[in-house]
Amino acid sequence: MALYSAPRGTQDILPEDQPYWRHIQERIHCIAQLYGYQQLDTPIFEDTALFEHGVGETTDIVEKEMYSFLDKGGDSITLRPEFTAGVVRAYLEHGMHVRPQPVKVYSLGPCFRYERPQAGRYRQHTQFNVEAVGEQDPAVDLEVMSVAWHLYEDLGFKGLSFQLNSIGCPRCRPGFLKVLVKYYEGHVDDICDDCQRRLERSPLRLLDCKNEGCQPIIDAAPDMRDYLCDECAEHFQTLLGYLDALGRPYTLSHRLVRGLDYYTKTVFEVWAEGIGAQNAVCGGGRYDGLAEVLGGPPTPGVGFASGLERIVLTMKHQGVEVPTLPSPQVLIASLDERTKVMGVKLAGELRAVGIGALTSFGERSLKAQLRQADRQGVAFTLIIGESEAEAGQVTVRDMIKGEQYPVVLEDVITWLSQRLG
Ligand code: HAM
Repeated sequence: MALYSAPRGTQDILPEDQPYWRHIQERIHCIAQLYGYQQLDTPIFEDTALFEHGVGETTDIVEKEMYSFLDKGGDSITLRPEFTAGVVRAYLEHGMHVRPQPVKVYSLGPCFRYERPQAGRYRQHTQFNVEAVGEQDPAVDLEVMSVAWHLYEDLGFKGLSFQLNSIGCPRCRPGFLKVLVKYYEGHVDDICDDCQRRLERSPLRLLDCKNEGCQPIIDAAPDMRDYLCDECAEHFQTLLGYLDALGRPYTLSHRLVRGLDYYTKTVFEVWAEGIGAQNAVCGGGRYDGLAEVLGGPPTPGVGFASGLERIVLTMKHQGVEVPTLPSPQVLIASLDERTKVMGVKLAGELRAVGIGALTSFGERSLKAQLRQADRQGVAFTLIIGESEAEAGQVTVRDMIKGEQYPVVLEDVITWLSQRLG
C-alpha cells in the first residue's frame, strides 16, 4: 500500500483518459476561435477580497467552499473557485474598455471548491470559461450560449437542452424578493433548515433547493419573470425571440437562479442526456453590475463556464468516441552495449525527421523487447544485433505481418518514411 493517495475530491488524469482531454481542449480552442474569442490566462490565485466581493459574501462558494490562506507576507489569498471575477478584474486592470467592445475572452484551467465530492463534483475541477465584457445587447447572450451549444454538438452530445431564466436587476429584483419572502413566511414550518437560513440571508436561493420536502413550495412560488422591469423583460423577450428563430430548444425555469451573486437578467445552464439536473454541463449568465462591485465603471458582461470533468463523464456516458493520441510507431531493439549506442543514435535521427521512436532499457532479451514492442503498439521494430552492426544494417520487423527485412542503415529513414506516410 502506498502511503499517500490524491486528496479527497481530486483526481489523477491517467494517460488512458488523456485522449478525451486532448480532444475536448482542441475543440475548445478551435470553436472559441470561430466566434472570435481570444485566450486570457489569469492567476490560479487571487486576493480573497476579489471573490468575497465579486462572487458574494452570502454565497455557498464564499461561505463554505473557498481554499483561502494567508501567504508568507500575511496577505489573504484564495485559489480561484471560478474565473469570472478574475476576468473582470483583468478587464479593469488592463483598461480593456478602450478595446473594441465587447472584449471576448476564454480561459481554461483548474478551479477549487471545498465541496462534498460526488460524481461530477470535485474539489479541483477544470473550467472552460467564456466571457464577453462591455456590451449589453441580448445578441451577446445568444452568442455565448451558442458557443456552449456548438461545443457540445461538435463533441457529439445527445439530448441537449438549455435551462433558462431571467433574475432581473437591482431595480426589479428587490420588489420580487419582498413577494417571495412574504410567500415563504407563510410556509416557514414546511421548509428545510437550509431554506430557513436562505430566507434570512439569500432568499433567491430558496428557489433552487434540492430538498424533496421543499419542492411543492417551490412549484407554487412566485416567478421572477412576472416581476421584471421593462428593460429586463424586453431583454429577455428579445433573447427568446433569437432562440426561437434558431430553433434551439430551451426550458424556462423559475427555479434557475444560479449560486453566484453577480448575475443580472439572463441565467442559463445546459443539461445533457444522462448527466442530470444536479450536474449541469455548463452554467452562466449576465453580470451587468460586477465591474462596479469591483470598483470599475458600469460595464455589462455575459458568459458561462463548463466543467471539463463533466464533459468527459457525459462523453463516456453517451459512448462518444475520441481520436486516439499519436504514439511512436518504431521501437529500436538492441542486443548489447555497442548496438545500444547505435540504437540511441538512430532513434535521435528518426525523431529529428519527426518519426517517434522508442528505445528499450536494461538488458532484455530480444524476445522481451519484441513483447514490449507489441504492448506499445508500434508498427515496426528495428533490431540491431552484432551481425547487423557488422553489416551496417538493421533488421526491420513488421509487427502486424510478422515479417522481417534487412535494410541498410543509411536507408532506414527513407524506408520508414515511405511506409509510415
Ligand atoms: P458555476 O455554475 O459555479 O458557474 O460553474 C460552472 C460549471 O463548472 C458548472 O456547470 C460545472 O460544469 C463546473 N463545476 C462547477 N463546480 C464544479 C465541481 N465542484 N466539480 C466539477 N465541476 C464543477 C461559474 O463558475 C461561473 N463563473 C460561470 C460564468 C462565467 N458565469 C458567467 N461567466
